[in-house]
Parts: sequence; structure tokens; C-alpha cells
Amino acid sequence: MHNVSLPEHLQAVAITKRYGGVCALNAASFSLRAGEVHALMGENGAGKSTLARILAGSTPADGGSISLDGAPVRIASPLDAQRLGIGIVYQELDLFPHLTLAENIVIGNLHFPEGQWIAPSRMRAFCAPFLDQVGLHMDPFLPAAALSIGQRQLLVIARALSMDARILLLDEPTSSLFDDAAERLFALIATLKSRGVSIVYVSHKMDEIFRICDRATVLRDGATAGTVEVPHTTPAELIRLMVGRELQLAPRGMSSPASRNSEEPLLTASNLCTAKLKNVSFDLYRGEVLGIAGLVGSGRSALGAALTGMDRITSGTLTHAGAIGLLPEDRRLQGLMMRMSVLENATLAVLGRLSRFGWIRRQEEQSELAPVMRRLALTCPSLAAPVSQLSGGNQQKVLLARWLLRNPAILFLDDPTRGIDIAAKQDIYRLIQELAAVGTGLILVSSELPELLRCCDRILVLHEGRLAARFAAAEATQEKIMNAATNVAANAAQPC
Ligand SMILES: Nc1ncnc2c1ncn2[C@@H]1O[C@H](COP(=O)(O)OP(=O)(O)OP(=O)(O)O)[C@@H](O)[C@H]1O
Ligand SMILES: [Mg+2]
Repeated sequence: MHNVSLPEHLQAVAITKRYGGVCALNAASFSLRAGEVHALMGENGAGKSTLARILAGSTPADGGSISLDGAPVRIASPLDAQRLGIGIVYQELDLFPHLTLAENIVIGNLHFPEGQWIAPSRMRAFCAPFLDQVGLHMDPFLPAAALSIGQRQLLVIARALSMDARILLLDEPTSSLFDDAAERLFALIATLKSRGVSIVYVSHKMDEIFRICDRATVLRDGATAGTVEVPHTTPAELIRLMVGRELQLAPRGMSSPASRNSEEPLLTASNLCTAKLKNVSFDLYRGEVLGIAGLVGSGRSALGAALTGMDRITSGTLTHAGAIGLLPEDRRLQGLMMRMSVLENATLAVLGRLSRFGWIRRQEEQSELAPVMRRLALTCPSLAAPVSQLSGGNQQKVLLARWLLRNPAILFLDDPTRGIDIAAKQDIYRLIQELAAVGTGLILVSSELPELLRCCDRILVLHEGRLAARFAAAEATQEKIMNAATNVAANAAQPC
């Protein structure tokens, strides 16, 4: 039985959007009630971000209609959206890194009366309450470039709040937020909701959906597969709507080599110190998946930087047999050339092998990439398309493809399933197992503890740059890992 008394606040009907031959949205419909938190779900490339951009006026639709409180509206530009009270936090954040926090908030903001002089004190007074609301306690005159990704995400949310949005579109807002920052966002969402703000929440994280959302709409291949009341549904039903079939969750792989004691490690770190790490010691064996847990700033990514020579090792030793590949945490800043093609980005690390006398052998390049793309279920309009045109999850897969082609002896994966849909996650888990099975040593950083528990043979926990605990897969639990990560049970940690 549906509830007819709750009016629909925003309605989008039969929205269509094509990019060349790709149909990003195919007569998709979506409606939003006042004061609800509405999840928008779907596999990578299903059209979630495209729909959000259309509602925010930054992408024009090819067809369909939008109405607000029953009256048809035209949202032809971001300014139109702002006037209608629609704010957005894009999946790929749109900040001006060289401008200050305050400037990023007031630029193009209809609620900040510019006048002839922009007095810094006025800017500060305007921005302070919104920075405060999101918990960004920083000097508003710092350049945005000084912020971490998580902090940038908060800044963009503050900006949307300052535009007095009645409808807030959040496109994977927690993909770079950890622990306390994500908690703060959930509290903020509850406050906004109680003030009657409607929120569209795009996420791949099932636990978040069940925690904060009232309804969920699932897109599949650009069309609406269904809308459900969250309290009356199950993860299994949502997955079925997303992928159109029951999903076989890949079982956990059998643990690697039995005779580890007799074997030489692939990599040994002894008392490794860098600017951000203190006395970190561990071994990695062939065919092993070693998990790294820890809060943001605990040294997880710093470990990748130390192992791959990006951070200087100040004392201690690192020995390894074979090359180390790194899948970085921030694909935009450290990994992808957004304007270059899928092919160029994927084959960047193996150009030496694929070229002769300085000429790149394109035929060979494509024939090597094809099976890797199939293995990852990477979908893109064409190999020549710039990666900026790919959905967020498929961009991540291009980076993974790069390292699969390179086939390094050791692979450091820094949060590889961030922004990856639930079916593709299964592909990546399977891939990790396959790589381990042929002897690759894998180091897996993840903020999702169930992921670590499912994929790893051993798990190390970092806290403030030090090794706080180490667990064999069989003895690790979420609780033990969290305790070590937050140092609650510091004395329970085994000596390293
Ligand atoms: N600027 C563009 N040019 C060409 N194709 C595009 C462009 N933007 C999106 N697409 C295509 O439209 C489809 C939908 O993409 P969209 O970004 O909306 O997916 P999504 O559901 O947000 O996925 P993800 O979960 O990976 O973020 C994809 O096939 C994508 O490649
Ligand atoms: Mg998206």
C-alpha cells in the first residue's frame, strides 16, 4: 500500500540523456518527498551521477520533464538550480584549489551579497556558520589545496549549505570520509532532514543506506528499476534490482602457502621510519594478501608511499624481490590523466614493453588490454574515450588495469573498491584471489573492515604511524581491529 498523503516535492519523469552512442539515461523517473533521505543506487555507469547533474542544472537532459511541488520547472544552469533551492555535492569535487576556503564558498553564491568591496571580515562572517556545521574548523583564508580529500568533501557540503539548499544532492559523499567525519555527516543529514530539507543520497554502501535512508530508487542501465521503502526491503532485494539477478558472493579464497616458515619473504620491512611512520616491521610472502587497517592519517597511505619510494626512508631497511605496483587512494590526483584516453591511461606503465624503436605498437597494446578489461568488467564508450567520460567506478578500474598489465611481483592496493559497485567489488575480490594464487604478494588497504576480513590472510593495524596490532585472518574480528585502530586496547597489541 502506498501512502498518498505524502506529497512528492520534486518529480523527474522520463529523463533521457545520450552521450554519442551511449544512453546514460533511458526514460528514468525519480521522485523526492519533502524532508526525506532518498538513496539513489545502481551499478557503476547506471546513470546516478548523470541524473544528479541534470537535477543540478550542470548537464542538459535530452528529454523528459521536471516539476517542483507540482509546477513544471526548467533547470538550464547551476544558477537556475540554486534559485530553485537545489544544491549538489559532485562525485568528483569541483573546487578551485588555488582559491581560499572562503572564496570557494562565496563565488557564484546568490546568498552572498557582493557589493563593491568584498571585506574579508564579511566573508569570514558569512562562511563561519557553515564551516562550523560541517565541522571544518580551519582558517577560512587557507587555500583549498591545503585540505585533505575528506576535508574538501566537507568544504563542498558547507558551500551547498550556504546556498540555502532545500534539496541537497550528495553524490557518494562518504567515499573519502572516514569514521568520525562520516558520522558527523550522518548527524548533519539528520538535522537537515528535521528542518525539512530533502536529500538525495548516492552511495554504494549498503550499511549507510539502511542506516539513514527512507526510500531507495535503483537505476539499471539508465532506467528506473524500482523504488522501495528502505525499512521494508533487504540488501538482497536491492542487489537484485541493481544487477537484475541474484549475486553470487564469491567465497573467501583458501589461504596461501602452507610452508611459509621455510620460504623467503617477498618483502621485508624492518623498523621502517619515514616522516609519517615509526618503526614499522613486517614480512610479505608470495601469494599472501596482507591487510592494512587504521583510521585516516594512521599511516596506511604513508606505507604505500614508503614502499614505492615516494617518501624518503629515514631509518630502518626495506628489501624486496621484484617490482612494487601502487594503486593510489586518490585516482584523480595521483593516478589518472583525465584528458587522456582509456587506452593511454591503462598502458602507461608498460609502454616500454609495448613499443619498439620508440614507436608504440597500438595493435599489441589493444590486444593486451582486451582480456584485462574483460576480467575487470570495465565498460567504456571506446578505448579512445578520455577517462573523464567514464563513470567513477570505471575510472578506478582503468587504474587497476594499468597494474594488471604491468604484473608486478608486489601490489599495494590503497582502498581499491572505493566507489566500486557491489557486483564489481566481487570481481575485484576474485581478482585479488587470482593474483595471490599465481604468487603475487598483495598489500590491501581498506576502510571497510568486512572487506579486509574477507580478503586477507593477515591484517596489520596502524595507529599514528606505528604498528598497533597484527592478526591472523582466523583470529581477527571487526571489534579487535577497531580497538587496535583507536588504541583502546593498546596494551593488548602484540609486540612488533
Ligand atoms: N561526459 C560524458 N561523456 C560521455 N559519456 C559519459 C559522460 N558522462 C557519463 N557518461 C556515460 O554515461 C553512463 C552513466 O554514467 P554515470 O556517471 O551517470 O554513472 P554512475 O551511475 O554515476 O556510476 P558510478 O557508480 O561509477 O559513479 C556511463 O556509461 C558513462 O560512461
Ligand atoms: Mg557516479
